[in-house]
This record gives sequence, structure tokens and C-alpha cells, in this order.
Amino acid sequence: MTGPNPKPRARWVAQKVGASRLKKLELTAVGGSDIHVKMLAAPINPSDINMIQGNYGLLPKLPAVGGNEGVGQVVAVGSNVTGVKPGDWVIPANPGLGTWRTEAVFSEETLIGVPSDIPLQSAATLGVNPCTAYRMLTDFEQLRPGDCVIQNASNSGVGQAVIQIAAALGLRTINVVRDRPDIQKLTDRLKSLGAEHVLTEEQLRKHEMKHLFKDMPQPRLALNCVGGKSSTELLRHLAPGGTMVTYGGMAKQPVIASVSQLIFKDVKLRGFWLSQWKKDHSPAQFKELILTLCRLIGRGQLTAPACSEVPLQDYQRALEASVRPFVSSKQILTMC
Ligand SMILES: NC(=O)c1ccc[n+]([C@@H]2O[C@H](COP(=O)([O-])OP(=O)(O)OC[C@H]3O[C@@H](n4cnc5c(N)ncnc54)[C@H](OP(=O)(O)O)[C@@H]3O)[C@@H](O)[C@H]2O)c1
Repeated sequence: MTGPNPKPRARWVAQKVGASRLKKLELTAVGGSDIHVKMLAAPINPSDINMIQGNYGLLPKLPAVGGNEGVGQVVAVGSNVTGVKPGDWVIPANPGLGTWRTEAVFSEETLIGVPSDIPLQSAATLGVNPCTAYRMLTDFEQLRPGDCVIQNASNSGVGQAVIQIAAALGLRTINVVRDRPDIQKLTDRLKSLGAEHVLTEEQLRKHEMKHLFKDMPQPRLALNCVGGKSSTELLRHLAPGGTMVTYGGMAKQPVIASVSQLIFKDVKLRGFWLSQWKKDHSPAQFKELILTLCRLIGRGQLTAPACSEVPLQDYQRALEASVRPFVSSKQILTMC
């Protein structure tokens, strides 16, 4: 990934998307397998920005509508549609649907029905980050209740889902965040979600960290959203034979593992991409994952990340806020 350093980044993204605008598009007629959807809400995720920058693993044909995630309500269905009916809520089955719009006609196989009794913000942010968190917690190491997981960027959308799903699975978490003036407020919020320890990157580097592991097992799983020095630190605390899964590269720096960690600790370095997981699994398996997460939401064990709702017409403001550091709030475009 390339791009300027973080300070002028918000302005740079605004310029990049300057060519983008709200545009009135003709709705296509609803064919037999089509669904007319009124979009309700759609988040702005880092991958949406990467897609606009042309730096993502999947790029749409241009011109394209932005946004890969969100929730909409079914308005009408074609005669062959059996899975959903008017009034139901739907989310994209795959990236590239273009969710930053008020309405659209989509074909049935591009959508998945979700219960409409979950909070709107949860539904709008369900299809990417909680799915990623759940898969990473369950697919790489066979963790048992009481085992420990360490992660960085713990206040990210994925990080907040990791904290909550881990807690629901009985796993203990060490959560690393970047230092900021209101660190106590952030620490309290993450602890209220179920985080056992919240540490800054600087605290993680300190020698006293050793004491933490007198009371808890060394983590067998590390989840890396950042790269660079932050990921090197996660590796330093990983248990011998443990796995670090890289799923994001927010610092735009490579992952560096020391030779001794590889030789003497035999740590495993893996990667995860939800889009690849979906290619390797059936739509029914994705639907099952979504339903598992909806059950957690229903039980109050999984809430949406901290969010700021912004009307679609103010999308420039939301885009700028989405790339500003230390905001700790997912920008959600609202269409209703
Ligand atoms: N591989 C997959 O399948 C998959 C799926 C979902 C998401 N992701 C990736 O996961 C990452 C997080 O996504 P999200 O939607 O959870 O993000 P988000 O809610 O927008 O949060 C972004 C996070 O990145 C941190 N951050 C930003 N710039 C940073 C930097 N230079 N150094 C360190 N931390 C930095 C922010 O921390 P501050 O508060 O300190 O700014 C915040 O914790 C993205 O890279 C996204 O593409 C990957």
C-alpha cells in the first residue's frame, strides 16, 4: 500500500474522492431473480478507502458506487426470489456491491437476509469485521476457555469484535492501542466490552510486561492489524509455537520477525482475508457464520463498534473523519 503520511492523509483522501459525487442513477427493472433494496445504513471501512485508492485486492470496474458493507430493507422481489420478502433486512454477500447509495436493484445471490430485530448499527457492520474476528479466533489455534489472545489496534472495528467474541468464548484478551490524551476513557470502554488488559504500544515494550504473564498464560494467538514495530512486539509476547495472524496493515510497514523468534520459539506467521475465506467456503457456511454472530448480538454479547452516524449527503465529512487518527468511531452513512 502506498500513500502520504497520516497528517495530510485526510485531506489527500478528500482530494482523491473529490472526483466522486452523489449522482442520480436510473434503477433497473426488477427481474425474476432481483431484489429492490432501500439502503438503510453503510459504514466506511479502511478497505473502502483502499479500494478508492486502487490499493485493494479486489477492484470494481469504473465508474462504481463506493461501499462494500451495509444493511438495506427489501422493497420488492422478483417472481423467482424465495429467500427474502418485502420488509426483510439484507446485507451484501460479497464485497463490491456499492452500498453508499439510497436504493438499488440487486440479484438475489448477491445478498444475505439478516434478522431485522438486531440494532441497525450492528446489522450495518456485521458482514466484515465481526466475521473476520470470529474466524481468526476459531480457525488458527485450538483455544480453550482461559486461553489468552493478544491483539493490536484493539479499538478498531475488528478489535472491538475480537474483545467481545473472545469474552463470549471464555478467552482472555490483552489489547494494545496507540497512546492518546483520553487513554483512560478508551481503556474503560474496551474493558466494558470484556477486555481483560488494555495497554499502550509503549507499555507493551516495557520490561514490566513480564509480570502480566505471572497471572495469565502467554498468548497462543496474536492478531495483527498494524504491522511494523507493533507486530514485532506482539510476536515477542507470543507463546512458543503460537500463531500471529496478520489481517491489516494500518502502519503501512512490513512485519518483521526476529530470527530467534522463528528458531527458538517456532512461531507461525499467517494471514487472513475474509474475501478468500468466502471463496473457499459455501454461501451456506457464510450464512451460518452470520447467524452465529446474530445469536451473540441477540444475547447482548456482541454490540456494534462505537459509531458516528452521518447522513449520506455529508459523505465528504464522513470520509475525512474515517481516515483521521485517534477518532475511535466508525463512520456510518445513513440513508433513512
Ligand atoms: N483481512 C480481512 O479480511 C479484514 C477484514 C476486516 C478488516 N480488515 C482490516 O482491518 C483493519 C481495521 O479495519 P476496521 O474496520 O476494524 O478499522 P477501523 O475501525 O477504521 O479502525 C482503524 C484502526 O486502525 C488504527 N490505526 C490507524 N492508523 C494507524 C497507524 N498508522 N498505526 C497503528 N494503528 C493505526 C486506529 O487506531 P487509532 O484509534 O489509534 O487511530 C484504529 O484502531 C483495516 O486494515 C482493514 O482493512 C481486514
